[in-house]
Amino acid sequence: MATVPGTAEAPAPQQPRQLPAAVGCFTGRAAELAALSSLLGARPDTMPISAICGTGGTGKTALAVQWAHQVAGHFPDGQLYVNLRGYDCDQPVSAAEALAGFLRALSVPGQDIPDQLEDRARLYRSRLASLRVLVLLDNASGSEQVRPLLPGDPGCTAMVTSRDALAGLVAVDGARRWTAWMPGKTGPMSGRCSPGRSGGCPAMWPRHSH
Ligand SMILES: Nc1ncnc2c1ncn2[C@@H]1O[C@H](COP(=O)(O)OP(=O)(O)OP(=O)(O)O)[C@@H](O)[C@H]1O
Ligand SMILES: [Mg+2]
Repeated sequence: MATVPGTAEAPAPQQPRQLPAAVGCFTGRAAELAALSSLLGARPDTMPISAICGTGGTGKTALAVQWAHQVAGHFPDGQLYVNLRGYDCDQPVSAAEALAGFLRALSVPGQDIPDQLEDRARLYRSRLASLRVLVLLDNASGSEQVRPLLPGDPGCTAMVTSRDALAGLVAVDGARRWTAWMPGKTGPMSGRCSPGRSGGCPAMWPRHSH
C-alpha cells in the first residue's frame, strides 16, 4: 500500500549519530582529552565510564562533546547523546524518557518500548550487546538518573557530565571522575582527577584502569 507523504513515521537510523556540534572555538584541554582516551580499551572486559564533574560553566559539556567527536571512529555502531537537564529550571529528563529516546534511536518501534523503567533498561542493554556505541549523558543531576542509561557491553563506553560529584557512580559503578574547575591559579580550564574504585590516579588522571 502506498504511504501518504508526511504521515508515516520515519524509520530510525540504524546507527545513531546524536552528538551535538563541538564548540567551534574549542581551545586547550589537550591533556584531558588524551587522558580520557587512554581509558578506552584499558580493560577489555569492562565498560569504561568517565565522569566530568564541577560547578556550572567550567566547560564540562564542551570537553565531553569535543572528546566524543575525537573518538567517535572507535564506536562505529553509533553515538547516543542526551541532555538530561539536571540543573535546568524545568524538570530533569527522567531516565525512562531518556531510555525511550535511545531505544527509538536504536530502531525499536514506539509500540515495542516497554512502560516500565527496568524493562526499558533491559531492552536497551540487549540492543547494545556486542555493539560499539558511545553514550554521552550530559548535564546529569546525579548517579541515580544516569545508572539505568549505562550500557552493559564492554565494547561500549559512557561519558557523563554533572555538577554533582557523582559519588555513587564512582564508588558503585567504577566511573573515573574528572573534576573541572573555574579558571584559577593553574590557568583556565584547569582540573584534577579522582580515580574510580578500580585504579590509582597519577597526578592528573588514571592512565590505567587496573
Ligand atoms: N575548552 C573550551 N574552549 C572554548 N570554549 C569553551 C571551552 N570550554 C567551555 N567553553 C565555553 O564555555 C561555556 C560553558 O561551557 P559548558 O557549557 O561546557 O560548561 P558546563 O560546565 O557544561 O556548564 P553547566 O554546568 O551549566 O552544564 C560555553 O559557552 C562553552 O562553549
Ligand atoms: Mg554542561
